[in-house]
Amino acid sequence: MDYRRTYVRDLFAATPGTEISVFGWVKTRRDSKGISFVQVSDGSCFRDFQVVVPAGAIPDAELAKVSTGACVRFDGTIVESPAALQAVELSATGLEVFGEADPQTYPLQKKGASFEFLREIAHLRARGNTFGAVFRVRAQAAQAINEFFHHRGFHYIHTPIITASDAEGAGAMFQVTTALEANAPLEAPDGHFSYRLKTVNPSDDFFGRPAYLTVSGQLNAETLAMGMTNVYTFGPTFRAENSSTSRHLAEFWMVEPEMAFCDLEGDMNLAEEFLKEVIGNVLDHCGDDLAFFNQRIEPQLLTTLDHVVNSPFERLTYTEAVAMLEASGENFEFPVAWGIDLQSEHERWLTDVKVGRPVILTDYPKEIKAFYMRANDDGRTVRAMDVLAPRIGEIIGGSQREERLGHLEARIDEAGLPRAAYSWYLDLRRYGSAPHAGFGLGFERLLMYITGMKNIRDVIPYHRTSGNAEF
Ligand code: 4AD
Ligand code: MG
Repeated sequence: MDYRRTYVRDLFAATPGTEISVFGWVKTRRDSKGISFVQVSDGSCFRDFQVVVPAGAIPDAELAKVSTGACVRFDGTIVESPAALQAVELSATGLEVFGEADPQTYPLQKKGASFEFLREIAHLRARGNTFGAVFRVRAQAAQAINEFFHHRGFHYIHTPIITASDAEGAGAMFQVTTALEANAPLEAPDGHFSYRLKTVNPSDDFFGRPAYLTVSGQLNAETLAMGMTNVYTFGPTFRAENSSTSRHLAEFWMVEPEMAFCDLEGDMNLAEEFLKEVIGNVLDHCGDDLAFFNQRIEPQLLTTLDHVVNSPFERLTYTEAVAMLEASGENFEFPVAWGIDLQSEHERWLTDVKVGRPVILTDYPKEIKAFYMRANDDGRTVRAMDVLAPRIGEIIGGSQREERLGHLEARIDEAGLPRAAYSWYLDLRRYGSAPHAGFGLGFERLLMYITGMKNIRDVIPYHRTSGNAEF
């Protein structure tokens, strides 16, 4: 057995008469007049392949093991299919059952399971239609992202996952420590190990200082951009936000380009080009998967995605958006006033009701944005930009960075952050500073947008959220 063989996705074009084997998991089996019809899927594509077992072709005792969820290899001959949905099928002459799946207990039975239930059996859900499609789209989108940057000469860099400085200055971090001792007796649920924190001086802890899981690779990416011009990082980031919403994860993947000699205008241009190209790439490569989402998950999905690819994003300042929201006559749960952090109801009104396309908002009040964003001359706003997508809200957050040493020091002090922890970051402004800009795309938010899936927990194989680290 070798990975170099024919996959289900290749079988639909196989020539009748070809002797071939079909590897995969049984989706369904139907018997009629001694003939068995078995749908086999290997996850290589959305569709499954029909195997027909003529009466007597395979001993009954072996065939009895072929039930939903079983893992099999059918050997046989490709023949023309009378079925409407496919041109060819396999007429089976041989069978190997690699693994049976007891129909009494197999949790992933044919239909109707809710996404909540499937989350509880996340280790099996990749075999179903929906999650196979989600994870194929995820793989294709990741590939498209790398291609997008590669074609534009961005260097792919890797920023650390463990860090000692808070990139966002927002303090929603997970601490990393080895200052632990085993708890006795074990108190954790389900027999997992449990530890107790030891009181140690931070200098005695593993890294000799408090360390955390990164919330963003941006600050490190900036250091490489200040030498390599255009870079991007694409990796996991962590936030201990206790917001149990359908759009927040504690562990999510972020794509972060950083560009020297670039201002906010250039940053917005990149973000818009980027979203259009990545979505366009998935439309080109995942047609069957997207057709399924369009039919079963989000009506009008394909129309919306086409529209996004083909029409310019709306660009507004925060101040203009607030004025529109105030004039909207809508009865928002959170009242709108200049200075507030926009809530998702406000973002959705702008994107879904007012504009009907993605909207880029710029120049936010400095109080609601991170310390590193470049100050505008008005003294009140910073060169921030958020890309808001219909249905999802914020999908990208970015900015032109403050490149002036004095301004940045003042902002760090104002935000109550320790200057010493950012000394290396300040060095970038001290030596050979350059105007620069970048953004962060929440990869799972993009996937929600592309697939129409409503809960962010359903676009990542294993979600980490407050109260959940199963699997
Ligand atoms: O807007 P954010 O916080 O920006 C940054 O972290 C910048 N340092 C990025 C940069 O300029 N290099 O986060 C960026 C994006 C958000 O727009 C959102 O899509 C996503 O990350 N995001 C989350 N996705 C899932 N779960 C969470 N808890 C998220 N928090 C942010
Ligand atoms: Mg943001």
